[in-house]
Amino acid sequence: MKKKTFYILITTLLLLLAAPALAGNWVVITLQELPPEIRAGEPVSLEFVVRQHGVSPIDGVNLVVRAEHGAGGDALEWVGEPGGQTGHYLVEAVFPEAGDWTWQVTAAPFPQVTTLPALRVQPALVEAETAPAGRTTTIYIQALQVGSVALLGIAAALALARRRRLGLALAVAGALLLLSAFAFEPAPAESVTPADQPEPVETRSPAEVGADLFLAKGCVGCHRHNALPQGDGLSIGPNLTRYEPDPDFVRAWLRDPAAVRPGTEMPNLELDDAEIEALLAFLSQEEQQKTAAASAGREACPVTQPPSPPHQPPAGTTDLLREDPRSFWYGGPALSTSLLESGVWHSLPHDEHGYTQKQPFWSEGYNWREEQDPDLLLTGRRLDGDETMTDDGASNAYHPDYGSMIMTGFVLPTAGCWEITASYNDATLTYVVWVQP
Ligand code: HEC
Repeated sequence: MKKKTFYILITTLLLLLAAPALAGNWVVITLQELPPEIRAGEPVSLEFVVRQHGVSPIDGVNLVVRAEHGAGGDALEWVGEPGGQTGHYLVEAVFPEAGDWTWQVTAAPFPQVTTLPALRVQPALVEAETAPAGRTTTIYIQALQVGSVALLGIAAALALARRRRLGLALAVAGALLLLSAFAFEPAPAESVTPADQPEPVETRSPAEVGADLFLAKGCVGCHRHNALPQGDGLSIGPNLTRYEPDPDFVRAWLRDPAAVRPGTEMPNLELDDAEIEALLAFLSQEEQQKTAAASAGREACPVTQPPSPPHQPPAGTTDLLREDPRSFWYGGPALSTSLLESGVWHSLPHDEHGYTQKQPFWSEGYNWREEQDPDLLLTGRRLDGDETMTDDGASNAYHPDYGSMIMTGFVLPTAGCWEITASYNDATLTYVVWVQP
């Protein structure tokens, strides 16, 4: 036998022997909390617990989180630091780019790769750059007002102290300053900032959150569920795809399995009430069907896409909205608005009348001072239902960055797929949005 072949044989043999040893030695990795909204460039703290055999927290593993941006590019890796308690590891992660990320966590020397729920990273806040500018002007004007009042005060004091000429000079200076300060006072009109724009974070149903938790908490390490990618764990627990949960039993079970069945192999994963409810919703078929129906509705809704080439921003607006990666301009000089790339209006204020939304429109030549009740008519009809909506209560608005606007405030009676048409003078503008329930 040649030497090289011999080595290969030995290595293969060793690997064969090693595999069962590793398989007997497995871990379940749990992400303690699903991260809140993550923004590009902002650090997120993550805490993991590693349990050997899914049961005993274990120190001394090399915990590594590996993340990849959906659009490709280099993978990022962060190494966990011991987190105080046995088996706890802390990771400080920064996702540099907005968009969809996939990520996994491993705990060497154990072989399992735990896939974490897909992540949507939000763009860095644009407001952070723009808001202070507005505020600075206001502060500047306030300082001017305070300063001029102070000058007037000193002038009065000097006058009392009989230094009339200096007093008079200061009084005039103070009065002029005060006048200029109020002259600069920004027009008191309704204003729109990017913060007013809904963000395309989709509100998620409890069942969707439950699906994320099923991955993040390491349930996939021991259970299969056909709605989710398989973990490479051992599947020592039952397949939960068609599980019919008895809610009270599952609540008690997830809170503390051993209290329900002493000696069970299922660990206590320290779930809180909200997590238990979300997991319960995920395990319940009915909830899953509701979620599936909602997302099918959203997918079937032909929401208005960003036009190509892009529509020009209305005259008199700065680059601000255009630079906001979440929205785009829609329409022409006669009538235009700004829409969200996601096409989803989510988290709209909601009561028994329906969902309330505000939306600004621009029209060349429109002046907020001259036309206080612009004659803009909004109509809406549901593409996936029979409901309609009419609103003609537009008002005027002004913002230094966006110029004169026709501001609408309207109520959509239901969530769903809405086609909305605005008409003003001879112009009309139609677009489709998905209103998230
Ligand atoms: C370390 C492995 C392991 C992990 C991790 C694990 N389970 Fe289990 N689970 C089991 C085993 C084993 C059983 C069967 C236990 C028994 O009957 O004693 C089980 C049973 C169950 C049952 C069925 C109870 C019944 O008899 O009706 C549910 C529901 C369940 N697990 C949910 C979960 C959820 C949700 C998670 C994640 C939060 C999870 N499990 C994590 C091992 C695990």
